[in-house]
Amino acid sequence: MSTTSIDSLLHEERRFAPDPAFTAQAVAGPELYEQARADRLGFWAEQARALHWHRPFTETLDWSNPPFARWFHDGELNVAYNCLDRHVEAGNGDRVALHWEGEPGDSRTITYAELTAEVKRAANMLANLGVGQGDRVAIYLPMIPEAVVSMLAVARLGAIHSVVFGGFSAESIRARVEDADAKLVITADGGWRKGRVFPLKNAVDAALAAAETSVEHVVVVRRGENEVEWEEGRDLWWHDAMAQAEPEHEAQGFEAENPLFILYTSGTTGKPKGILHTSGGYLTQASFTHRVVFDLKPETDVYWCTADVGWVTGHSYMVYGPLANGATQVMYEGTPDTPHPGRWWEIIQKYGVTIFYTAPTAIRSFMKAGREIPLAYDLSSLRVLGSVGEPINPEAWVWYREIIGGGTTPVVDTWWQTETGAIMISALPGVTTTKPGSAQVPMPGISIDVLDEDGTHVGKEAGGLLVVTEPWPSMLRGIWGDPERFQETYWSKFGDKYFAGDGAHLDADGDVWLLGRVDDVMNVSGHRLSTMEIESALVSHPIVAEAAVVGASDETTGQAVVAFVILRSKKAKDVSATEASQLLRAHVAEQIGAIARPREIFVVAELPKTRSGKIMRRLLRDVAEGREIGDTTTLTDSTVINVITDTVR
Ligand code: WT7
Repeated sequence: MSTTSIDSLLHEERRFAPDPAFTAQAVAGPELYEQARADRLGFWAEQARALHWHRPFTETLDWSNPPFARWFHDGELNVAYNCLDRHVEAGNGDRVALHWEGEPGDSRTITYAELTAEVKRAANMLANLGVGQGDRVAIYLPMIPEAVVSMLAVARLGAIHSVVFGGFSAESIRARVEDADAKLVITADGGWRKGRVFPLKNAVDAALAAAETSVEHVVVVRRGENEVEWEEGRDLWWHDAMAQAEPEHEAQGFEAENPLFILYTSGTTGKPKGILHTSGGYLTQASFTHRVVFDLKPETDVYWCTADVGWVTGHSYMVYGPLANGATQVMYEGTPDTPHPGRWWEIIQKYGVTIFYTAPTAIRSFMKAGREIPLAYDLSSLRVLGSVGEPINPEAWVWYREIIGGGTTPVVDTWWQTETGAIMISALPGVTTTKPGSAQVPMPGISIDVLDEDGTHVGKEAGGLLVVTEPWPSMLRGIWGDPERFQETYWSKFGDKYFAGDGAHLDADGDVWLLGRVDDVMNVSGHRLSTMEIESALVSHPIVAEAAVVGASDETTGQAVVAFVILRSKKAKDVSATEASQLLRAHVAEQIGAIARPREIFVVAELPKTRSGKIMRRLLRDVAEGREIGDTTTLTDSTVINVITDTVR
């Protein structure tokens, strides 16, 4: 836990009971918990039946070969049909699907009928380019409607998308395109961010030039009006290819376990993991949780999730969950403070947003900037507020409810992961009495526990490791191309219980308080980063001999990347420590992406190591956070850490 000490978190005693008026009209009631407790699989089968099945399933779960689950496996569905055509066929084609807002202020309103038509055409375009069931398509786009259209078009064909966050580097694209052996890439000539157009196509060009596998086509959306290089035969403009494609496309049913997407996320080694999700179970849990956690009334609500499509939150709660539910939503291209610091609140006022879902890091930076900025706008349309991505400290939670929610709007803190695919722990507005700082209770149909190292339940008022004890519909089905790593990472510690990598505490009521990662994974602004991955990026630079990275607590971003490096005496002889630090910060951004750029890099002579040669990151974290240094008795040379402390201060 970064911004608050665990102690003060666990002494948080404010409670917010649901407003009876909210409860009276709420989508979810307490009976959901009872139904799920009485018959967990029956409960999920019922949720799945809310979707359209081309062929109904007869078996809910096959868990005969753990950890490889099959949900609804003899059923067939089309994910895109569920998100589009069925709403049009039900007479809701004129309902707005997307209120898209570009950063410079241009906007587009797209109805379900229009989105369906675009996706059909895009599916034909991709099919013309040779994309079919099971093929991988990489998507590297800004937050523009074509990102949603691309994902749904790939899904419509039974193909697999791998969205790469637009802030990632050419090197990250290369690694992802190669690992998944993508056949086609969809990108843009640029996107708007912080008042400028940032390029994307050139990163794809560089990635493909270095890749060992081959991509047949690159489809380029025009957005930034940037100059781009062109490879004849490989590259095509989106608008040209779309114009040539047929408008009609009939959605075919695919098996429930047909893969839907791969999304790469950082683990404890240097290599990102390609988390694999499939269709029927994923869509069931994404849509169910979206409906009940946010109390969605699709006819009247305007929902806005601020996540980028490049992260799992964008997949489950901007694309699949809301669209499967026929929601009207806002999609915003740019940054919260461009062109002015009230931009987000202006958007909420403009579209009358009723449900808002964002990350604690954003809330904390708004707190810092001052309440007068949001208070200058009419935010009275808001009726549910959600938080995701990292633990939310009680102060930020209360500020969110008071300032953004006018003191009455329920706040739900939702815990989940790329791997879980959908929300696993959250309050239900209208049902749960909320506690600032706690994610609280498992969703109906989800089984959570907190265990000690030996796998024993810790009991109330105790802390340990968070596990999921029963398979769930939207669970990851594996790591792309690496079944061993899948078993090893999640299923080796507690057998058939899923080990999430998070520490958690159970309070006297049995509610869950998340305490952050227990492995070498950092959480910076709600984004997951691996210490090892950044260390490998640092040592790939010729002037670096050794590197150690830690996540130090940061008031705004939760954690921040802090690196300690030993330079090579020969190669770095003409480089000052300040120069080296600047050079290496840029190098990490280039290798991974700007989000991984260390806040600070300290050049040191030695790193603190145990007798077995393991770097003691705990001590480096003490240094980085300006704390008293902890127990140093296991160090080979205990003076090393004092030297480092002196260098840093
Ligand atoms: C890790 C997963 C879930 C989408 C965004 C991040 C942390 C996430 C919470 C929360 C405390 C949280 C965990 C988790 N996390 N939500 N509400 N409270 N911690 O997805 O990149 O896969 O990261 O984010 O540490 O393991 P991700």
